[in-house]
Amino acid sequence: MQIYLVGGAVRDRLLGKPVKDRDWVVIGATEADMTSQGYQRVGADFPVFLHPETREEYALARTERKTAAGHKGFVTHFSPDVTLEEDLARRDLTINAIAQASDGELVDPFHGVRDLEAKQLRAVTEAFREDPLRILRVARFAAQLPGFQVEEHTLDMMIDMCAHGAMDELPGERVWQELHKALQAPAPERFFQVLDAANAWSPFFVELRGAERPPLGGATAENRLAACLASLAVEDIRAFCHRAKVPNAFRDFALMVVRYGDTLRRWREVDALELAGAVSACRGYHDADNLRPLLAYLRWRFECELSDLLAAVARSNVEVHARQFSETGPALGAALVRARAQLLRDAQRLQ
Ligand code: CTP
Repeated sequence: MQIYLVGGAVRDRLLGKPVKDRDWVVIGATEADMTSQGYQRVGADFPVFLHPETREEYALARTERKTAAGHKGFVTHFSPDVTLEEDLARRDLTINAIAQASDGELVDPFHGVRDLEAKQLRAVTEAFREDPLRILRVARFAAQLPGFQVEEHTLDMMIDMCAHGAMDELPGERVWQELHKALQAPAPERFFQVLDAANAWSPFFVELRGAERPPLGGATAENRLAACLASLAVEDIRAFCHRAKVPNAFRDFALMVVRYGDTLRRWREVDALELAGAVSACRGYHDADNLRPLLAYLRWRFECELSDLLAAVARSNVEVHARQFSETGPALGAALVRARAQLLRDAQRLQ
């Protein structure tokens, strides 16, 4: 049996990037060969094994044949006579179809090294079309590898796939997985540029088509997503997040930005009652520190310094806590709102 390092690990090593997961392909072995050497079988759809010590993934070489719609509609064929080249041929991009032998020698039948040097995201074969997830993978690689371009024929395939509804087949979970990687990447805006070039907005990203997209550099994934959604209506943010399986924490932060970002940003000018309502909705009266993520977003996005507001809310929390109120029940609630608004009004006047 021969074992090769494949996929992202080879690509990232050649790019001089840190390698996260190492995937291995095994040629000329049966399942019994693997288990007799202590590997543990894990794959449900095809034979993948965990190394007894490193726990890294070792897959038997396989070929795939499309049998149904969707990115899981494949029949896989594996046997000891599937060659390395056949296994590499089923992969998405040439830069992901390079194998490395244990002596370090590269096996690169589809010229992935050349495409790494030329910064090309190029499909290995026409079989690229068979997996709609690859459209989003290409968009995500464009975000992760600045300077890389989608090769022309590959883009044509993506356009054609989208025109035939390929994206409709994807589960929302996979959409979020790729979007999340893109949001953490050096150039997240490239993800949306590739979606645009391939006309891949429908069905998952329809609300984002044509939306304002500010520069996204130097921020967290949460801030970046919120910035991409900031020009949308609340119900459109909800619809998009539901469809693309955006985690609640990301969705709720984006909603907070849309609902209260402007009020906090213009806090010196707005009505104090409105400001108190926004602070309260952001749970700033529970703990002023709850405002920090939104204030950090506003600082990143608009370069506005809001530490005076944070200090004013923290001060008002201390004062309201220390004050004796004679009211009870709903009247107490109203008195608290009045007191807080008055404290914010005082803070607004301080320069
Ligand atoms: N692959 C593919 N088509 C897919 C998913 C994966 O051809 N839809 C192949 C590629 O060769 C890829 C390898 O399987 O390199 C491993 O996939 P995965 O670990 O999901 O991605 P990586 O390319 O390793 O990238 P990353 O780890 O950065 O997500």
